[in-house]
Amino acid sequence: MKLEDKSRRDFLQRMARWGLACATGSYLTASLVKGQNPPPPPPEPPDTTWTATIVPSGEPGDPLVVAGRVFAPDGEHTVAGVVVYAYNTDKDGYYSPDGKVGHPRIKGYMKTDPQGRFELHTIRPGRYPGMHIPAHVHFNLWGAGYPVQWTEELRFMGDSYLTEAMKNESQALGKFATIRPLSRDKDGVLHCEIDLRLQEKSNYPGH
Ligand SMILES: [Fe+2]
Repeated sequence: MKLEDKSRRDFLQRMARWGLACATGSYLTASLVKGQNPPPPPPEPPDTTWTATIVPSGEPGDPLVVAGRVFAPDGEHTVAGVVVYAYNTDKDGYYSPDGKVGHPRIKGYMKTDPQGRFELHTIRPGRYPGMHIPAHVHFNLWGAGYPVQWTEELRFMGDSYLTEAMKNESQALGKFATIRPLSRDKDGVLHCEIDLRLQEKSNYPGH
């Protein structure tokens, strides 16, 4: 099969799954409660670069810059050319104005630079209303020879919904800890860093 055919087939399959899942709100709610992720996002647009601003100017909330790096499964080498898809809730904890979780409004794509870096400009997400789940940013990775996969969510130190188990789990990951400290610069912008580790195999069923 030609590469273009395979890409097109993958694209169509992924779009079909995405559409199906969006139409199945209960599935998404169940996924959310279990801490899982909705199906993989559509492929990246052609103008994807290492940095992205995924909120419109004037978006309510605290501006947040996430400086990230993507590592190979060995945990040692950074990987260039990996697509990083990120999404988060608005400051009130909603993914979309209609309250559905399958249609994140605040979302965007990056592609790691030669040093494996990406930079995400968003706002500090709010926590889901009525649920005791820490605020978080979701990431999906694919490309550079790796299949589409979701990562553990980025969460923030000091969130009162973090449990001891979550903290211990994060700490055990060493430099790949997913609960990260936030700092605020002189302009009031929040900053944090995250290192993401690729897996050889997808954690999405059927990928
Ligand atoms: Fe979420």
